[in-house]
Amino acid sequence: MAETVSVGIIGCGSVMQHAYMPLLVNEMARGHASAPIVCDLRADRVAEVQATFPTSGSTLDPQDVIDDPTIDLVVVLTSMPEHGDLAEQALAAGHHVLVEKPMSLSLEQAARLVELDRTGPANLLCAPHVLLSPDYQRMVRMMLDGRIGRPLLARARYGWNGPDWGQWFYGPGGGPLFDLGVYNVTTLTGLLGPCRSVTAMTTLTRSRRVVDGEEIEVQTDDTFQLLLELGDERGSVLATVTTAFGMQQYLGPAVEVYGLDGTVQMLGDDWAPDGLQLWENSLGSWQTFHSRSRYWPWTDGLRHMIDCVRTGRQPYTRPEHAYHVLEVMLAAMEAAATGTTQKITSTFTPPAPMAVDEHGPQHLIHDRVHEDAQ
Ligand SMILES: NC(=O)c1ccc[n+]([C@@H]2O[C@H](COP(=O)([O-])OP(=O)(O)OC[C@H]3O[C@@H](n4cnc5c(N)ncnc54)[C@H](O)[C@@H]3O)[C@@H](O)[C@H]2O)c1
Repeated sequence: MAETVSVGIIGCGSVMQHAYMPLLVNEMARGHASAPIVCDLRADRVAEVQATFPTSGSTLDPQDVIDDPTIDLVVVLTSMPEHGDLAEQALAAGHHVLVEKPMSLSLEQAARLVELDRTGPANLLCAPHVLLSPDYQRMVRMMLDGRIGRPLLARARYGWNGPDWGQWFYGPGGGPLFDLGVYNVTTLTGLLGPCRSVTAMTTLTRSRRVVDGEEIEVQTDDTFQLLLELGDERGSVLATVTTAFGMQQYLGPAVEVYGLDGTVQMLGDDWAPDGLQLWENSLGSWQTFHSRSRYWPWTDGLRHMIDCVRTGRQPYTRPEHAYHVLEVMLAAMEAAATGTTQKITSTFTPPAPMAVDEHGPQHLIHDRVHEDAQ
């Protein structure tokens, strides 16, 4: 067990500087992680990070991080097309790895990543970390307790105008399904079980955009509707995922699951939940459950992974789930291109809900006090 986890971060862009690094600073304050070694191909990015955060070293070559035997955990936060190679090399070198989504752009490489996790000395945690949110955990418990009965339909959505940085978001291997819809597919399969088949329609709404101050041609579709057949031994559940780089605002729930005895919905976004609403036929009324996730950051996987490395525990979200989600997304794109429903061959077992104490530290303390006071 490593008391203080030594971290190497590859990719020092927006998400690293604004989301993961502040969380890592908290972990450093708790004595759970040391100041990271940071890496980016761009010297200006590395300089920005070093001017803002504590670091223990820097490099412009990711191989330096991969070859460093003092590093316990490698965090891959690069643009999406680089994820697979960097994660594979880091795992093969014996490091634990947290990789942003998607784990790879190819199923062949994703299968190798799953195998390295299964057979190697190190663990792989793949974003998104939506299964760790306290509101997700509460929702899955309600469903397993039978409070909405047998689920039959579900829907999820996540969209916004799209990034005005990172031209790769609009190139091959980019697009809103890999960037945004991936959260919804992960949430729905976590709640309802593996996907058996998928069909989709996609379109391009804006073929030119200004990104990094430059007008570029968009090379991926930016608007997606997916229809998934999900389910386990309880039977099929038909679910939709709506995602786009072009949605402006919404107020409706992020995720809704309709059962024969009730409905449960997650407010906010599944990466930033804002409470639950539950209809139970037996009560004949809506109940609102205050968010348990108000202080839950979507980067919580890093806190979780650091705890796993320190304690030798296996991460809660398994790479088999991320592989399955990748197969669904690739199949959805194939369905849209060919106009034919695609069968999904991979499967996984959604993890049982966590004990409440496993949710992690500070972000629940306020909530517990609040609930005690009610
Ligand atoms: N931006 C967000 O809000 C957000 C949210 C959740 C997840 N993500 C995911 O996080 C990842 C990064 O997103 P971002 O918005 O920070 O992108 P970004 O373009 O701002 O940053 C990516 C960085 O990776 C660096 N990089 C690329 N290839 C590299 C390599 N081989 N070695 C070292 N550095 C390399 C780039 O120079 C760049 O600085 C993406 O996978 C994205 O899907 C982003």
